[in-house]
Amino acid sequence: MRSALVFCRATTAFIAVVAFSLTSLASLAADLEVGKAKAQVCIACHGPDGNSINPEFPSLSGQPAQAISTALFRFREGNRKNTVMSPFAADLSNRDMNDIAAYFASIKRVSQHVTQPVNSALGPELAKKYNCTQCHGPELKGLQHIPRIAGQQYNFLIMAIREFKAQTRSDMDGNMSSAASILSDADIVVLADYIAALGDNSRP
Ligand code: HEC
Ligand code: HEC
Repeated sequence: MRSALVFCRATTAFIAVVAFSLTSLASLAADLEVGKAKAQVCIACHGPDGNSINPEFPSLSGQPAQAISTALFRFREGNRKNTVMSPFAADLSNRDMNDIAAYFASIKRVSQHVTQPVNSALGPELAKKYNCTQCHGPELKGLQHIPRIAGQQYNFLIMAIREFKAQTRSDMDGNMSSAASILSDADIVVLADYIAALGDNSRP
């Protein structure tokens, strides 16, 4: 009798755990759907599904969710500034940012860029030599707050790295500016040409 009662309690606890997990999963799915709805205003610039078709606007697809929400938070708080982008972050709540980030993070990154053969050979060596892979991950798909750069728009990559090098671009911890400080402009062009084509591979 006693053991049956214990079993019964254990079963109830187990069911509670399963029910809790299912609820969590359901709310996760809902976040993606809500995020998709909230992201409709963003796709005019960041492209349908967050794969940008404008060379000046970054793709958001396949970014780590934390990198997207961190960027949005910094735009909203004024730590990162861009006259075109900042107004779109101004009215987002933290919840909005997380929902939108979850949505874009779930989409596959696609790139149309074609790398010049000479840079396909040089790019991986430079990315290793200058520790890009150390921080942005072995496949440059980003990690937590560090953005994905694989398959990013070529023009955006060139612009961002040059600005980090010139120390005119907002940098949360100074790491990226110091990484860029030792690059020649020729290195930047090779790296961007190589990295921009690393698309069509979803996050693990
Ligand atoms: C009118 C065009 C436009 C719209 C609409 C827009 N953005 Fe942006 N967004 C930009 C530009 C331009 C940048 C690059 C700014 C920079 O790096 O200085 C940017 C950058 C970003 C970044 C940083 C990406 C990175 O890799 O550094 C995020 C995240 C972002 N936008 C999210 C959003 C979200 C979410 C929305 C909708 C709520 C949105 N944007 C709407 C133009 C736009
Ligand atoms: C020590 C760590 C570190 C190293 C090494 C590093 N990065 Fe970064 N990188 C970062 C961080 C952190 C950010 C985000 C900075 C921010 O937005 O405030 C960043 C941002 C960037 C961005 C802007 C991406 C975007 O979507 O906004 C580009 C492009 C970039 N890095 C390219 C490179 C390249 C190319 C290399 C190798 C030459 C490199 N990084 C090496 C940490 C690093």
